[in-house]
Amino acid sequence: MGGKLIVFEGVEGCGKTSQMQFCCEWLQHLGISVVVTREPGGTELGLHLRRLLLEKVENKSISEVTELLLYAADRAQHVEQELKPNLAEGKYILCDRYTDSTTAYQGYGRGLNMSLINQLNYIATSGLESDLTIWLDVDVEVGLARKQGDGVGLDRIEQETIAFHRRVQQGYAELAASYPSRIVRVDGSLTQAAVQDIIQGILRDKLEL
Ligand code: TMP
Repeated sequence: MGGKLIVFEGVEGCGKTSQMQFCCEWLQHLGISVVVTREPGGTELGLHLRRLLLEKVENKSISEVTELLLYAADRAQHVEQELKPNLAEGKYILCDRYTDSTTAYQGYGRGLNMSLINQLNYIATSGLESDLTIWLDVDVEVGLARKQGDGVGLDRIEQETIAFHRRVQQGYAELAASYPSRIVRVDGSLTQAAVQDIIQGILRDKLEL
């Protein structure tokens, strides 16, 4: 059986991490071999890039293009080192963020050139697309309030303006409208159990589990 790349996307605090964990347990229960990974930070090199990208240090400025290139570098390493080998072994990969994050955050959020982003996404992935992307849709305010409530403190991107996060949200909505067979919207404001039920239904249907 061939491997599958299943990506989870959404704005800050949309609940990806918990839902991925529940999915992982459910798939393992079905006897499927699962790998859980994320971007940025799914490789050793990527962990360094994640720290550079997200830590909030006073007086540290990262230009918008540098930010874009660092996310692309993280992805290129992740695709080669983790995604392709695991897919070749027939594993199901649950990946926290992938190319749509770059389109939503650097494209819609920062306003960087979309054709440049598409080219970089292509270079970083050598054309590897997700088999299915679950977009957990929650209000930006609700998601950020969840993040503020978890006591960890907001990272460099979470601290962006509300207008930035709204543009990211708009980006996801437009991506989902443009790629309806690859990206499926799930209402992330429902209870955790209800969201998980819906996700399992989508996976059963789309991946014929
Ligand atoms: P998270 O893993 O906790 O969701 O945090 C990753 C952060 O990085 C999140 O704010 C979204 C951001 N990000 C981008 O801006 N562009 C990207 O391409 C990726 C993968 C993440």
